[in-house]
Amino acid sequence: MQKTILITGATDGIGLETAKMLASQGHNMLLHGRSPVKLENTVKEISPLGEGRIVESYVADLSNLTEVVKLADSVIAKHDRIDVLINNAGVFKTAETITASGLDVRFVVNVIAPYLLTRKLLPLLVSTGRVVNLSSAAQAPVDTEALSGRSRLDHMPAYAQSKLALTMWSRAIAQELGEAGPAIIAVNPGSLLASKMVKEGFGMAGNDLSIGAKILCRAALDDEFATASGKYFDNDSGRFAAPHQDGLNLQKSAEVVRAIEAVIAETTGNS
Ligand SMILES: NC(=O)c1ccc[n+]([C@@H]2O[C@H](COP(=O)([O-])OP(=O)(O)OC[C@H]3O[C@@H](n4cnc5c(N)ncnc54)[C@H](OP(=O)(O)O)[C@@H]3O)[C@@H](O)[C@H]2O)c1
Repeated sequence: MQKTILITGATDGIGLETAKMLASQGHNMLLHGRSPVKLENTVKEISPLGEGRIVESYVADLSNLTEVVKLADSVIAKHDRIDVLINNAGVFKTAETITASGLDVRFVVNVIAPYLLTRKLLPLLVSTGRVVNLSSAAQAPVDTEALSGRSRLDHMPAYAQSKLALTMWSRAIAQELGEAGPAIIAVNPGSLLASKMVKEGFGMAGNDLSIGAKILCRAALDDEFATASGKYFDNDSGRFAAPHQDGLNLQKSAEVVRAIEAVIAETTGNS
């Protein structure tokens, strides 16, 4: 059945590969990117794929939470239902690590923006829908002071903490919503896949991007993920697995969610 799928960071790497696969299967594609030029090129690449479906584009810099709110509002203005949200956009090494409002870019793009986008789009997501969150094998205990912009971290700790924080809120929201909500699933797409993040971050070519794209397509659409809400899928081992132990700690997860919501309230007035 044809689905309507919003994917963030569709302009490069795993996101682009996934968007191409989903478009080829005939789904309606809502493509997000931060660069208008890259997004236009992505639309040109994806439009000829598949038949009888729509391709829309949405520009937003996810390191700016006001733009995240506008992104959600633009989607809401055009759609009263989406089936799948893939929170794929992410950042590892970047020259600019602090946002204009003093927050850590890695936490904003990888954790807080997808949380805010998901919360805003929940009314559009049917109970049979999916939210697929791009986690990682790199996971480290979350320093909520750093998440809140009150202390600074180097690239790797910030990235690994951001990926565990994303995994933690995925499970927390899944439990909060229960069967009434869409399935919220955290997925490690596979380690060291050949994206620019891996080339720039680790100076290596990396493994076939389609490894990541295929698992995201399965998580978005296949029945095996329909009852996986709150779970973590590790594509390095090819199965559902336990995340870092903090990811199973409800109290720590609630603390992370509170810290995320406090940042959102302070920055955007949304609560
Ligand atoms: N590659 C791997 O081995 C691997 C392993 C585990 C997890 N992951 C996760 O997979 C996801 C995709 O990563 P990738 O490897 O495909 O990296 P990538 O090629 O660098 O793609 C990242 C995507 O996110 C977008 N993005 C980055 N910062 C943004 C911002 N401030 N606002 C809006 N969009 C932004 C990028 O936009 P531009 O095109 O404009 O740069 C790009 O479309 C990430 O969440 C990453 O953490 C990757």
